[in-house]
Amino acid sequence: MDYKVLVAERIKEHVDISIERITNLIEIPPKSEMGDFAFPCFQLAKELKKAPNIIAAEIAEKINKEGFERIENLGPYLNFFVDKANFNKNTIEKILNEGDKYGSSKIGEDKNITIDYSSPNIAKPFHVGHLFSTAIGNSLYKMYAFEGYTPIGINHLGDWGTQFGKLISAYKRWSDAEALEKEPIKELLRIYVKFHDEAEKDPALEDEGRMYFKRLEDGEKEEVELWQRFRDLSLKEFENVYNMLGVKFDSYAGESFYNDKMDDIIAEINNKGLLVDSNGAKVVMLDEYNMPPCIIKKADGATIYATRDLAAAEYRKKNYNFHKSIYVVGTPQALHFKQVFKTLELMGHEWAKDCTHVGFGLVKFADRKLSTRKGEVIFLEDLLNQSITKTLDIINEKNNELENKEEVAQKVGVGAMVFTYLKNNREKDIVFDWDEMLSFDGETGPYVQYTYARAKSILRKLGTVTQNVDYSTINSKEEFELIKLLEGLQAAILNALDKLEPSILTRYVIDVAKAFNKFYNLHSIINAGDEELKNARLKLVEATAQVIKNGLTLIGLEAVERM
Ligand code: ARG
Repeated sequence: MDYKVLVAERIKEHVDISIERITNLIEIPPKSEMGDFAFPCFQLAKELKKAPNIIAAEIAEKINKEGFERIENLGPYLNFFVDKANFNKNTIEKILNEGDKYGSSKIGEDKNITIDYSSPNIAKPFHVGHLFSTAIGNSLYKMYAFEGYTPIGINHLGDWGTQFGKLISAYKRWSDAEALEKEPIKELLRIYVKFHDEAEKDPALEDEGRMYFKRLEDGEKEEVELWQRFRDLSLKEFENVYNMLGVKFDSYAGESFYNDKMDDIIAEINNKGLLVDSNGAKVVMLDEYNMPPCIIKKADGATIYATRDLAAAEYRKKNYNFHKSIYVVGTPQALHFKQVFKTLELMGHEWAKDCTHVGFGLVKFADRKLSTRKGEVIFLEDLLNQSITKTLDIINEKNNELENKEEVAQKVGVGAMVFTYLKNNREKDIVFDWDEMLSFDGETGPYVQYTYARAKSILRKLGTVTQNVDYSTINSKEEFELIKLLEGLQAAILNALDKLEPSILTRYVIDVAKAFNKFYNLHSIINAGDEELKNARLKLVEATAQVIKNGLTLIGLEAVERM
């Protein structure tokens, strides 16, 4: 039974506002002495024309108290104290019955959500910023699916644009076939950087680049084949990273996918009377909305990033009929998305309001040695491998006997990085710090993983309990706090989705791990003194492990049984 729902239903019997509004108003008091749920009556004062404390007193008098230890008024608040024995039993049994599905729902049934995430650029490194987008998008994807929505994961690859003309020119001049096979992106980056250095001395190179891009756009065989090769080689490298992270996409329709949709979108913008000439370029004016114009076609006739995003938005609406369309892209692109969404709105698409940009901060390094001076390019794959190696060192030190060390180090090491990206408000910058990230006792992935493995080890040693359990034996503050937290998994997920903020779930998982360790350190299970209490505690351990596992999975980590 969901107590919050029960609280809302009981209040509803006495006030004439919607159940949704009541649910939104219900608070969890900061101290358990003030009850397990509280309902502030301020908002009702106007409608009922009574002082909030009087409303609280009146409802407290009449309300049905079944299932609660007591319901009291304190000033303008109604405080609900749940019947603990009942609550403990219901919560733990629900978790164990539902298992891997605990916290899920069908709330999102028949609703498609497109999520544009990761979206790296071909022939460029998959860098630390792309992991930010990948981790957030992947977690949103999993949470939406868990709550019954149909998410569509789209990798909007940066695989088109004038830079490919330059790359073809550079390739023809300086490429090293062997290096290209071995480390494609590093080699492509090398010749691309060289192109820019050389073009400074010899501006004619720029013209050559433009010429090749034109040929590429015109579908000339040789140029298209080269471009295809760059794309394939890059994707193969990106796939390595996605495999390490366990991330998948439903579509790899990147920028080039929209090439043949450019004429239509431009014609549509023109037909709506929005296309304006500006020094030879075609733009949509947005000064009325305090934004620079959205460029649709450059003076040389080429379409750009924004044009392709406009076409992509329409395509997604037509093809997926989304309920919501999400773009997980760094905050520096906030203006770009505002312009694109505004243009869609001006084009008369009422669904423009369903498009949302989910921004995130920058990634900085505490240890400057991590970054290579030149262009500060850091390959994510290298970092992930470092994280795995470092984790293996720690495991060798702590638990040398562990059987499948490499596999554990892989999951914990990769998970530690993902966790770091998801543990704070996404708008906040991240300071990358190995010691902090891999610590077993901070607010880290390894800490939560370790807590899970510890719970599992208790269950292996003492055995899981199969018979019925008397939950009224559980009576400590720590236990009740933990169970109350466990009850809140779904609320945390829904809240995270509402704010498009996976950190809400990550923090929740940290809180559960902390509450579990507090309980475990203060209350012995094996020496509970009473067989019933021991069994109830074992059930609580099992339920906690389940909740941590579900939470970790939804932020994109894999729980490990031993570590
Ligand atoms: N490729 C871009 C970048 O690396 C991100 C693309 C984001 N998605 C989009 N629809 N614009 O910055």
